[in-house]
Amino acid sequence: MMNKKTVRDIDLKGKKVLVRCDFNVPMDENRNITDKTRIVASLPTINYLLENNCKIVIVAHLGRPKGEVKPELSLAPVAKELSKQLGREVLMAKDVVGESAQKLVANLKEGEIVLLENVRYHREETDNDPEFAKKLAFDCEVYVNDAFGTVHRAHASTTAVTQYLPAVAGFLVEKEINFLGNTIENPKRPFMAIIGGAKVSDKIGVIDSLLDKVDKLLIGGGMAYTFFKAQGYEVGRSICEPDKCGLALELMEKAKTKGVEMVLPLDARVGREFAPDTENKVVPFDQIPADWEGLDIGPATIELFSEKLKDAKTVMWNGTLGVAEFEQFAIGTNSIAKVLAGLEDATTIIGGGDSAAATVKSGVADKMTHISTGGGASLEFIEGRKLPGVEALLDK
Ligand code: 3PG
Repeated sequence: MMNKKTVRDIDLKGKKVLVRCDFNVPMDENRNITDKTRIVASLPTINYLLENNCKIVIVAHLGRPKGEVKPELSLAPVAKELSKQLGREVLMAKDVVGESAQKLVANLKEGEIVLLENVRYHREETDNDPEFAKKLAFDCEVYVNDAFGTVHRAHASTTAVTQYLPAVAGFLVEKEINFLGNTIENPKRPFMAIIGGAKVSDKIGVIDSLLDKVDKLLIGGGMAYTFFKAQGYEVGRSICEPDKCGLALELMEKAKTKGVEMVLPLDARVGREFAPDTENKVVPFDQIPADWEGLDIGPATIELFSEKLKDAKTVMWNGTLGVAEFEQFAIGTNSIAKVLAGLEDATTIIGGGDSAAATVKSGVADKMTHISTGGGASLEFIEGRKLPGVEALLDK
């Protein structure tokens, strides 16, 4: 259980509260929000603050503007969507810590909400600058961190700001930490993990840590080709990290020592080039032609993974199994999402980012036990790393 104070443990009645949310949501070219999960996930805490007659100041980021004002990364569309979801107006500040934002904050009345502009318009945010954090805390009395997706970042709005205000967790941070923590510590067995994504280098820590905990580890996505290469197979033009081959072998060795069954793909759906409508065909993993590249797991692998997952009582999934943004290479990812959705009596947890988006797209999101709103954050948590945004909160 999380050992940090939450909104339940502090007197909030009528207070002016600074809330860090993760509104880093995907948008299309017309700036329409294409996945509202993170906005919806912020509602329980905001509604709780409203029930307590709080004056609410929300701070959030969108993308990585690197200290520059980029209108295409304005949070204005989020303010609009949040207003819709809450059924009340959310005021949009024109800046973050400037005069106009501070005026809105100073004049806020009970039950009113203001969303500050993209906090990453200021480089001081990612520099975890204390003076900037002090300005963020302007006129507020309590700080609530509910941005689970950003708790792995030591930034001004997640860490330095806690020097100036009593700091507690929101319901989303509490729920994610408790859910992921309980599952890792006390999983129903067999406990299986599916790890995909493009690169082994992004997931070394998480694979290493999961090998201490799971019964089976299924590997898909681009990273599988590094495992094949490590064993001496040719992978054509598939994504591969030759300098990580040694590490892949070490992970395979660790699996053996720990008695964990590591399951690699049997076949691949390869494409002539990295493009949505490129010619494709299925080949055994050890027969990838030199001028083709593996872009998805093949049907034999889908069958193998489905068979392995049949008896699972807990499954954790992070990373897509192919290039899921190209329809013809999303078959593996979609099929496995459906297999998980059909598992009865199993706890199914989807790590954030790509796999969460793919689950939503496959139309089976509501069949999963938990879809994390944190990509990098959930990976770092599973690895057992300290999360600065959580560490900085008041202890229970
Ligand atoms: C995310 O989308 O994973 C979080 O919002 C963190 O974003 P970042 O990786 O740009 O810090």
